[in-house]
Amino acid sequence: MEDPTTQDTRSNLLLKKHDNLPQFDQFPPSPPQTEENDSESSEEVEILLPPPTNPPTQVLDIDKKTPDAHVPRDPRLIRLTGTHPFNVEAPLSALFNEGFLTSPELFYVRNHGAVPEVKDQDIPNWQFSVEGLVERPLTLTLRQLIAEYEQITCPITLVCAGNRRKEQNQVRKSQGFSWGAAGVSTALFTGVAMSEVIKKARPRRRARYVCMEGADKLPNGFYGTSVKLNWVMDPNRGMMLAYKMNGEMLRPDHGKPLRAVIPGQIGGRSVKWLKKLIITAAPSDNWYHIYDNRVLPTMVSPDESANNPKWWQDDRYAIYDLSTNSAIAYPAHEEQVCLKDGPEKYRAKGYAYGGGGRRITRVEISIDKGRTWRLADIDYAEDRYREVEQTLFGGRLDMSWRESCFCWCHWWLDIPTLELADAKDLVVRAMDESMNIQPKEMYWSVLGMMNNPWFRVTISKEGDYLRFEHPTQPALMPGGWMERVKKAGGNLTNGHWGENLAGEEEKAVVHEQAKEVPMTKAGLKNEILIDELRKHDNEDEPWFVINGEVYTGLPFMKEHPGGAQSILSAAGLDTSDEFMAIHSETAKAMMPSYHLGTLSDSAKLSLTEPASETASNEPRPTFLNSRAWTKAVLHSKRAISADTMIFTFTLEHPEQTLGLPVGQHLMIRLRDPVDREAIIRPYTPISDTTRKGYLDVLIKLYLSSGSHPGGKMSRAMNSLPVGHGVDFKGPIGRFEYIGRGRCAVNGVERKVKSFAMICGGSGITPIFQVFRAVMRDADDPTTCTVLNGNRLVEDILCREDLDALLQGNEHRGEVIHTLTKATEEWAGLKGRINEDLVQKHCHAHKETMVLVCGPEALEKSVRKVLREQGWAEEQVLFF
Ligand code: MTE
Repeated sequence: MEDPTTQDTRSNLLLKKHDNLPQFDQFPPSPPQTEENDSESSEEVEILLPPPTNPPTQVLDIDKKTPDAHVPRDPRLIRLTGTHPFNVEAPLSALFNEGFLTSPELFYVRNHGAVPEVKDQDIPNWQFSVEGLVERPLTLTLRQLIAEYEQITCPITLVCAGNRRKEQNQVRKSQGFSWGAAGVSTALFTGVAMSEVIKKARPRRRARYVCMEGADKLPNGFYGTSVKLNWVMDPNRGMMLAYKMNGEMLRPDHGKPLRAVIPGQIGGRSVKWLKKLIITAAPSDNWYHIYDNRVLPTMVSPDESANNPKWWQDDRYAIYDLSTNSAIAYPAHEEQVCLKDGPEKYRAKGYAYGGGGRRITRVEISIDKGRTWRLADIDYAEDRYREVEQTLFGGRLDMSWRESCFCWCHWWLDIPTLELADAKDLVVRAMDESMNIQPKEMYWSVLGMMNNPWFRVTISKEGDYLRFEHPTQPALMPGGWMERVKKAGGNLTNGHWGENLAGEEEKAVVHEQAKEVPMTKAGLKNEILIDELRKHDNEDEPWFVINGEVYTGLPFMKEHPGGAQSILSAAGLDTSDEFMAIHSETAKAMMPSYHLGTLSDSAKLSLTEPASETASNEPRPTFLNSRAWTKAVLHSKRAISADTMIFTFTLEHPEQTLGLPVGQHLMIRLRDPVDREAIIRPYTPISDTTRKGYLDVLIKLYLSSGSHPGGKMSRAMNSLPVGHGVDFKGPIGRFEYIGRGRCAVNGVERKVKSFAMICGGSGITPIFQVFRAVMRDADDPTTCTVLNGNRLVEDILCREDLDALLQGNEHRGEVIHTLTKATEEWAGLKGRINEDLVQKHCHAHKETMVLVCGPEALEKSVRKVLREQGWAEEQVLFF
């Protein structure tokens, strides 16, 4: 049955026509035309063609400073992970109004990183390989794929496994960003059955999986995943290699020029910018296959999953087929219906989809919280394509033989408006042909994927109007009944969506929230507008924003361990990522006393817009910017010990210097590839700060061993591919060595005659910067004694560089190493840095300064020793 109302909006064109669309040897093919092609006679059949498309031609301002500055996009799309990478969904009503097929500009996008740039003229020569457990490895160009294989066209719905995740995040924050209910879209894909290409390569006997790899370089390698070989070979599963979407060449965000399309499964398996098909005996070992797209058991907390890799490696928790799901599009969020002169009946409408090709066989609506249900009408538009056999967009459209359902369906139900007026809510649930039905309760899991409980829209009566509210709004957009209920103290997991039903016992499902340190002043209700915030982007009284709350930095500028500069750098800005990533619980607990109020909703939006500072095309002489992240590209990595590497980055141009005062630090930011959360750590580079064009950072890597998963930053840095951009910001730090016995602490200059430098492990890096500055300047009268503690001789970092600096400077410098696990051959000192060593080598003098940097235990014991030996606080500096 067909819903007549879908025809009056911007619905898909229902045409009586035959294929009149571009030939597949045209590069790039022109977009589909919608008038009838008289030159080809055809049997008249009814199929749905794509809605009118209006391809964006402009690169939006917001994208201009990102690696995606080559991709024109539709401004209506809602960005779910800030500016970059591009993860978006359309407003739900706009998506639904398009009808069965979605225009490419509104099709949801899930990009883990930057979009590979492929010029139109290079499309025919795009190469991909079929390799691994095959008799005949192949390398094919797109031109060959089109010329040598049969072309097919088929409508397919893609759904991101995170669709509807915002609801999970309202219950308990998952490790994933907040999709609304529009992470789903449908298109006519044209390409080649994946099985045809694999057959040509002739898989060997033990072959069981097809691994796919894209061209997008990410922090943990190229994006990749796998599916089972026997699924690929099964025509009922319809897996394809596609290069057209709705008759036009794939757009950059959707995999231009070639992608895999895996129908019925989560979108994460449909690899874009496809470069490799690797046939293997085991599932993909790609980082993104293992740490993404999984539903771990509900009791596995974010901490447990981070500490115990076994959860990720268990293939039982990997997701392939989609789960049964549905949502209500109308009533839309915040829609109002007039009871006085409105329609007698209200038509509720929405979508539903099943997984693994299973058909949705019923959609049910309840307006009494699930006590009774009404059957909705369903329009399976996909069935219309089964009735024809023809060429469409250069591919054979022939689905009559296939029973599987790879597309969403639309449903609708007319409900008397007066009955709605008596109801408190409207819920929908769908069931598939295997009787898989959506549950009432949410199955929360650490990645928040496959969320599919009943979709509920609340109804409230406001005067003569009914007002509807969806559960959530995507991304950080405020609104939705879940947020409202939570704010009012309701427990969303009590079995009644957080409502208190009189006489019914609360039976809350416990989803223990990570203990969050409150950072706001209790009871403070003060809305701060953007103009007020902007007035405080200076040193008189710097204000900054963390998670939508405004704080003043003035009272702790002097004491801040990162130096006043780090507060001034954040003035007037949203510093949530940095603050949350690098501050301790103790620092967070101090925040209520600096809390000024909450940023207004419009101010929050203005803050996410790109900085208004006009970008100049002039090459910048120095690289670091203390108020914005700037990117340097990883040039090479060099191991200098079993667990330490030097990462060399290229700056923006060969003449550029770093712009870091001696003794100060910079911050490196990588994004966790799964949840996009920022991983930020301070480092002191090892290269000379005056070096042009390059930057070297020494990093000690804490990698996984046994059951320990290793450090987050270490894992991310270790798997960083050469050529990948990394964000830097700075300088930060309280201390600066100006030179020739002059230094500054918190901007206040002082004299120093000698430095006692105490360090351990990679704590040598800031010490090394200062030591080098002193030793390099023959006219600098300052003396330096370095006490460097390590475990083994091979743990001593920069030893040769230190020795080289000492040559000819023995009268001004001394470097003493002590080892806790020294071998027989070690002729130097043994044991920890203790009170005797400190007493012997660090002479308390008015103009001596002690600089300390090392592991927490070393810093703690040195602090105690120095205090006992009478050093004044202001003489000691912990980096
Ligand atoms: N392929 C590559 N190479 N890189 C990616 O980031 N994202 C995956 C998949 N294929 C991704 C990829 C995910 S998680 C989804 S949901 C779909 O692409 C989204 O496809 P779309 O952006 O065309 O809608």
